[in-house]
Amino acid sequence: PLPRPFQRPLTVPPVLAPVRTDATTDHYEITQRTADLHILDDAATPAWTYGGTFPGPTLVSRSGRRTVVVHRNRLPRPVAVHLHGGHTPHDSDGHPGDAILPPGGDPMDAMPGMAGGTATPGRPVTGERAYAYPLDQRAATLWYHDHRMGFTGASVWLGLAGFHLVHDDEEDALPLPKGDRDLPLMIADRSFAADGAFRYPALDRTLRRVPGVTARYTDGVRGDVILVNGTPWPVHPVPRLRHRLRLLNASNARAYRLALDPPPPGGGGLVQIGGDGGLLAAPAAHDAIDVAPAERFDVVVDFARYRPGTRVRLVNRLATGPAGQVMAFDVAGTAARPAEDATVPARLSDVPRHDPARAAVTRSFLFQNTPDGWHINGRGYDPARPLARPRLGDLEVWRLVSDAHHPVHLHLDHFQVVSRNGRAPGPYDGGWKDTVDVRPAEAVEIAVRFTRYAGRFVFHCHNLEHEDMAMMADFITS
Ligand code: C2O
Ligand code: CU
Repeated sequence: PLPRPFQRPLTVPPVLAPVRTDATTDHYEITQRTADLHILDDAATPAWTYGGTFPGPTLVSRSGRRTVVVHRNRLPRPVAVHLHGGHTPHDSDGHPGDAILPPGGDPMDAMPGMAGGTATPGRPVTGERAYAYPLDQRAATLWYHDHRMGFTGASVWLGLAGFHLVHDDEEDALPLPKGDRDLPLMIADRSFAADGAFRYPALDRTLRRVPGVTARYTDGVRGDVILVNGTPWPVHPVPRLRHRLRLLNASNARAYRLALDPPPPGGGGLVQIGGDGGLLAAPAAHDAIDVAPAERFDVVVDFARYRPGTRVRLVNRLATGPAGQVMAFDVAGTAARPAEDATVPARLSDVPRHDPARAAVTRSFLFQNTPDGWHINGRGYDPARPLARPRLGDLEVWRLVSDAHHPVHLHLDHFQVVSRNGRAPGPYDGGWKDTVDVRPAEAVEIAVRFTRYAGRFVFHCHNLEHEDMAMMADFITS
């Protein structure tokens, strides 16, 4: 039976302490290992974890301070760690070819489906790898997750995902909700087998060599249990004060239309202050927000707009039944409102607009299903054929055309949405983004300027099953 909603308290992943800090750098260590999670009441769930928990521990960095994370692999299979939304040099970006093999691991497991492993651009290492993140970027809600070639979907499903928050002076100076009223919320659907194990319909149950999922899941794996920070449909008591919710859709394939039920009187209960790449120029009030896999929406909810004692559910309007519920907030029952120290300023930040008319180059990418898998411009992932060679510093327009629903993610730099089917960007396209939801039969134009780091990066569909089934390509900056 499914767990009952709104029984268990929300937990917030612990913040990881650095093992050492010096003048410029904070050093961390994470051991990736199996662990038994207690997600269900009646059975343990064996998981792949960052340090024993799901989500993994939250890293908190200061903009401009280097963060070095040594990842040690004690899992049975290769891993690769990507800091999603990080402005990171190639060698620390977690390119799927740059695996960390477990001690004694077979290098052939690192590049499935590639003859002899000879054409791989990757540099697998054994045991551990140090990822160095300059984090010379704005405050934002980033996340880290596995990016293993061909098996990202399975690895993330089994537990390899966590938050990495970046703070800066600009954001700190704003009177936004802070401390325990600043809640990172990782939303991820899962399904469970009768014995409590995560159920993932991998084609190759050993997760070794053959990427992909069984035929009925080729459009992506969706679960019937919605986890928030690893707990099914949690409930969280809130004082009648403003709260900042950092919404992350860490689901493999499920999209959500998040809304508050009941809505506050007058509506507009989800006041968006930020997106993938940090603060918007000005807040935007929404009744509902569409969140595709990997997207982040930073919102402020003012629970003082509700009567004392109201249960406010965060719901998903794209599903009915269990997947239509996400979590609940129980508004304090006392009528006296505690002193409020947070507000949402009418101006949040500077977001200079890219002018697409000044683009040095326009590129087109067609995201398409074929009998051979999910492809970009007619082919599946091939490290020998990068699909773009952008010059650092140039403004580019990328035209993303799609047959189905594809949340498209670019590594290295954030972009802005220029248009959807020739019309103005949609209500959820504001600010700096690293993932954009391209809907069926849509052409989305984005403007991007790749900066600073030369090398090989990937862009791909963030429906993780599409990604594993080859909807990914390299681009090489110089
Ligand atoms: Cu969130 Cu290339 O990934
Ligand atoms: Cu896709």
